[in-house]
Amino acid sequence: MIKREHWGSRIGLILAVAGNAIGLGNFLRFPVQAADNGGGAFMIPYMISLLLLGIPLLWIEWALGRYGGAKGHGTAVAVFDYMWKNPVAKYLGFLGVLIPLIVVVYYTYIESWTLLYSLSSLIDSLPSTPMTDGVENYLKPFENFLVEKIGLNSESSIFLMPPLETYIFFLITLLMNLYILYRGVSAGIEKVAKFAMPAIFIMAIILMVRVFTLTSPDGRNFLDGLGFLWNPDFSALSNPKVWLAAAGQVFFTLSVGFGAILTYASYIKPKDDIALNGLAGASVNEFAEVILGGSIAITASVIFFGIAGTELIASKGAFNLGFMSLPAIFANIPFGQFFSFIWFLLLFFAGITSSIALSQPAIAFLEDELGFSRQKAVFSLGAFLFITAHIPIFIKGALDELDFWVGTFGLVIFALLEAVLFFWIYDSKKAWQELTRDNDIKIPDIFYYIMKYVAPGLLLVILGFWAVEKLPEKLSQSSAGIWIARGFILAVLILGIVLIKIAWSRRNERASA
Ligand code: PHE
Repeated sequence: MIKREHWGSRIGLILAVAGNAIGLGNFLRFPVQAADNGGGAFMIPYMISLLLLGIPLLWIEWALGRYGGAKGHGTAVAVFDYMWKNPVAKYLGFLGVLIPLIVVVYYTYIESWTLLYSLSSLIDSLPSTPMTDGVENYLKPFENFLVEKIGLNSESSIFLMPPLETYIFFLITLLMNLYILYRGVSAGIEKVAKFAMPAIFIMAIILMVRVFTLTSPDGRNFLDGLGFLWNPDFSALSNPKVWLAAAGQVFFTLSVGFGAILTYASYIKPKDDIALNGLAGASVNEFAEVILGGSIAITASVIFFGIAGTELIASKGAFNLGFMSLPAIFANIPFGQFFSFIWFLLLFFAGITSSIALSQPAIAFLEDELGFSRQKAVFSLGAFLFITAHIPIFIKGALDELDFWVGTFGLVIFALLEAVLFFWIYDSKKAWQELTRDNDIKIPDIFYYIMKYVAPGLLLVILGFWAVEKLPEKLSQSSAGIWIARGFILAVLILGIVLIKIAWSRRNERASA
């Protein structure tokens, strides 16, 4: 067996884990979710989800990762197989490879837009329009710019036609990701995190200070923006949609339920702490999300466009605040070009430290289960991502469809599997022992009950709501793009089953030899 890699230092590990968690979700997804789901009231289900789902499941994933890493395995494929002596366990574990692998196909593409926007700001090629009446008119050029760059304006009902420039930026972004992965866990991922994390914080603070000193022509300032995010509208709490959105955001931002935390945790030493490391990573992420992510895009937007305007912009699309409102605001302030440049560069850094985390489970799977060298694993992943990225880049509707099945639905299922396998099938006493051994802080005993009963129970409730509220609607939709996306997920699933069969038959041969 090849010797597994390890993190170089504790601070490096925490920065890498924070880099894993802090991503486009913190700066683009969070403000839009909050604005769309009751503003300040959103923070109530958000905090409850964090405590009852996010943190407990995060600790579970860390524990599974440490457990697997000690045995030389970094994905749920092998970990589930150890915990449950049933032949299907390993195939269920493959979800922890499939989910991040499919997410990274479109995540890297969106990440490449941030690089494109960042450099476009620098050479001043983003649109610039003077403030006019009506949010809609004013944002139009920015909307057109985005539509053109991602090829949404194509005449075809199936294909998107992005310009060559977009495609080239995607290739550059993909190569950067692969290069970091090729350097490895400590010389690649950890080193990049040590540089990118402080850079993200510095850029975010510069932007925050700028936003806090902004006033609109009609006199709104940052207090209006913060007031919007923090003044609760309690009536939103009676809407289950708001609770689902909050839980979904917590999973997404903490990277929980993907399998990516499990893989990162597998590179710690067998007797290293997981409780404090997990909590530290989550705390840094929450600071970046609630304080930094909550103070930039949404605050600036409320100052410029008012509450009604911001809600309108946010309700129309997930990327509107980040890719349209912010550059539109920056186009109207002194040195706006510079602020726009660092806003998109911040997003790019946040994105790349997440996309490498999303890629690593597939690499670990190829290395640990199929005996690939790192070079061979990275090369294979590169070929896979290059080919399959053509689906979200060129096929209409595919990106959203992939995001629904994998990035929203799949992770709830996988999180449920992790909790049930560990606390119900493996053994809750042994699970708790595994979780609480060798830690630098004590996990409070109440978490035993939260992990065993509350979290899986809530996950079931969430799945139930999904099944009733969203599935029928989703399943009734049909277009070429949607079917291509579904076919793609199925193909990856089949590929996984075949690879696992090969890996296990080799294992058995070796065992009987
Ligand atoms: N947490 C990341 C974000 O907020 C997304 C992510 C999920 C990254 C899973 C890695 C693994 O954007």
